[in-house]
Amino acid sequence: MSPVWEFEKRAPSNIAFIKYWGKKNGKQRPINSSLSMTLKNAETKMKLQAFKDQRFAFDFLFEGERKPDFQKRIEIYFEKIASLYPILREFSYRIESSNSFPHSAGIASSASSYAALAKCLSSFLKELKVKELPHESYLARLGSGSACRSCFSPFSIWEEEDFEQAKSFPRGQMPPLGDTIVLIDKKRKKVSSSMGHSFMDSHHYKEARIKRANLHLKKMKESFQRGDFKSLGELMEKEALELHALMMTSEDPFILFSSQTLEIIHWVKKMREKLNFPFYFTLDAGPNIHLISLKRDQKKLQSILLTDFPSLEIILDEQGDEV
Ligand code: DP6
Repeated sequence: MSPVWEFEKRAPSNIAFIKYWGKKNGKQRPINSSLSMTLKNAETKMKLQAFKDQRFAFDFLFEGERKPDFQKRIEIYFEKIASLYPILREFSYRIESSNSFPHSAGIASSASSYAALAKCLSSFLKELKVKELPHESYLARLGSGSACRSCFSPFSIWEEEDFEQAKSFPRGQMPPLGDTIVLIDKKRKKVSSSMGHSFMDSHHYKEARIKRANLHLKKMKESFQRGDFKSLGELMEKEALELHALMMTSEDPFILFSSQTLEIIHWVKKMREKLNFPFYFTLDAGPNIHLISLKRDQKKLQSILLTDFPSLEIILDEQGDEV
């Protein structure tokens, strides 16, 4: 059977500077606003083929292989979207996906994957003449919260006034930024992001966290406006440590960084004093580190880092192009 429609889309990943951690009543809306940098090189390529069919069925291949756990998540996602657009039930689907970066490298693959899939679905729904379609960021959010930010570049904000979707964030006077990703552990996370989010429901620091995130966001917006990389960096480090502090202080405490993560964090603080250019760290929900510097300093940073840690595996990325 040949497909009646076929779409191929790409979407980048992103790294949050203000972290999304915790959802409202288990819904796909966050308890606080978040702000992220969209990456340039780390992206997912997604091919969606739709077949006219009696069955609403799926065949999902990740880098050429069947992955039952991904397949399950895709099915749940399509169920959600089909409850909004029942016409999708008149087809079966073959989905092929691949990443430009290693899996579990501390690069949010769910963000780039759902953003790419949302782009495919959005194009498909347009072809099916569905009227009043929301922005693809809305469809991406229903798959993964952070994915809604991957639909804008180079910076994106998912803000309280409209938690249905993200929007583009103006970079003000901020010079171009680089992201040197330090791979510390490529194993699958012990606690998934969805589980981590759910721990925020009854977290005793929940209200304090919301206030802190709002304050950090307000200050970070000013940093962008002024082009003040130092204050941006200090805020992103606070956010990263606060994210992990929330994990460690939840009712079921858990720790996602490793001793090497801490070693690099101490190194960053020490080297910042010594060197004459600034760079800061941020962490996702895992042990890997994103070192954010000015783009023009990234090569210097890479060489100093590899001199002190010759066996480190790193990936060089940077802020995405304006779209
Ligand atoms: C720590 O977007 O992966 O990376 O909405 O359940 O898919 P779901 O969660 P996800 O959470 C991302 C958490 C984070 C912070 C961030 O990207 O803002």
